[in-house]
Amino acid sequence: MSTLSPLVPFLGSILVSVILLKQEQSEKPEQQKKRTMTRNAVSMTKEAVMKLRRKYFSKSVSISYANSGPLMIVQGRGSHLIDENGVAYLDTRNNVAHCGHSHPRVVKAVQDQVAQLNTNTRYLHPNVATLGQRLSNLFPDPLEIVFFVNSGSEANDLALRLARACTGSKNTIVVDGSYHGHTMTVLEVSPYKYEQGGEFDLQPPKMGLKFQSPGRHIWKVPAPDIYRGPHRDIRTAGREYAKTVEEACHFYQKECGEKVGAFLLEGGMSTPGAILSPPGYLAHSVKAVRDAGGVFIADEVQSGFGRFGTSFWAFQHQHPGHEEEVVVPDIVTMGKPFGNGMPLAAVVTTRAVAEAFETNAHIEYFNTFGGNPVCAAAGLAVLDTIEAEKLQQKAVQVGGYLQDKFMALQQHLEIIGDVRGSGFFIGVELVRDRTTLEAATEETSYICSVLKEKYKILTSIDGIFENVLMIKPPMVFSKADADYFVESFEGAVGDMKAAGDVRSMEKTPT
Ligand SMILES: Cc1ncc(COP(=O)(O)O)c(C=O)c1O
Repeated sequence: MSTLSPLVPFLGSILVSVILLKQEQSEKPEQQKKRTMTRNAVSMTKEAVMKLRRKYFSKSVSISYANSGPLMIVQGRGSHLIDENGVAYLDTRNNVAHCGHSHPRVVKAVQDQVAQLNTNTRYLHPNVATLGQRLSNLFPDPLEIVFFVNSGSEANDLALRLARACTGSKNTIVVDGSYHGHTMTVLEVSPYKYEQGGEFDLQPPKMGLKFQSPGRHIWKVPAPDIYRGPHRDIRTAGREYAKTVEEACHFYQKECGEKVGAFLLEGGMSTPGAILSPPGYLAHSVKAVRDAGGVFIADEVQSGFGRFGTSFWAFQHQHPGHEEEVVVPDIVTMGKPFGNGMPLAAVVTTRAVAEAFETNAHIEYFNTFGGNPVCAAAGLAVLDTIEAEKLQQKAVQVGGYLQDKFMALQQHLEIIGDVRGSGFFIGVELVRDRTTLEAATEETSYICSVLKEKYKILTSIDGIFENVLMIKPPMVFSKADADYFVESFEGAVGDMKAAGDVRSMEKTPT
């Protein structure tokens, strides 16, 4: 299945043991005690780790494959993750390891910088200044001002502060099924979370809102889904779905006499199930939002840095045959892939928005770790690697190849209702019936469990019915990886048919 030699992890662990042994022999007893503890920590069994987690972690801290066998992953290489027994799993889901797991260039950049200095961000340092310049250059005008933060949640939180400072309004329009992070403010704009939990006192529709939300200042619009939603004609759907945004603007402006603050939208909508804005959707929606005094925030936390292949950012995506003028956001947020695993995220905005924040919020912005020299070194190495290894082009070629293969499979596998996306951002929606579009929720879960157990492939599931196989692998995913994945998927569907009715089986959180 993999080009990775199964001996590599094995030899690697022997090497680690030899080094540890040598160090131990020259250490004083006190140091030896510490070393032994460290070595025990890496050589613990999976069961021992699970026991510690059960004892010291809250049950609310999620874990993949919780009910079908959690994994202990101790190594990563390229498009593979390797468990404690040296078993390599093909990773089809990890867009954080953008340049591949443990990419040598990023590893070296981090090692070199951490050996030199890591400190808070109030000092001048070349890394962060250079990174700011390089990041800014990746955006069209008038986006130019950069803020560094540590996570996607922080980036969206700051984006909302900027929006509020420059519009004077908290009113925010969000898309059904979306997730924008885990802090209190961004949970409030994440229907994916606020609708599931009991944390928010959801306001009933009677207050003028069409859907329940955490308050009158949050208005949820449907995802512009041209496969399952009410508007399915790509030529007209964008215009039709934009009417739902116009309706929200009308509500705030005309019925409440207030401005809109922000329209927060993912460039490529991930948790709603790999949904791309249909042609015309952004142009009409953003016009309505700006006319109502608001700004457009594009969340590129999942989709940015060349993943879409034909464009560096998802908000620039053009549907082939439906090219239109790109709508440039007022604020863009990014995170996950930026540091290839190091906590590095950012907000990029216009000078006008930044100046409104300076004037209206009138407070210094300080972030202890955001854009520290070590994470900035990782970010520079990521940008270098994207260029040097032509990863964006790779997303076009291999991502396109993978999408074509799933489309070919769709010809004879009834369960594949839709294949969509761009580059290495692909959704495969599974249905029980192609006419009614009944979601194959339990089947999707079953197939993903088989992919993990039998074929050693890690996947993720999204969509409001949890029936979309979301594919966003490290960008070093090869054609051979794509072949193996599609063959295995077909095999897993066969395994599911052989297993009989899987609908009553417990779902696995991937
Ligand atoms: C679209 C989107 N925005 C923001 C976030 C939050 O990022 P983080 O987990 O780094 O805080 C996520 C995380 O999954 C995300 O998918």
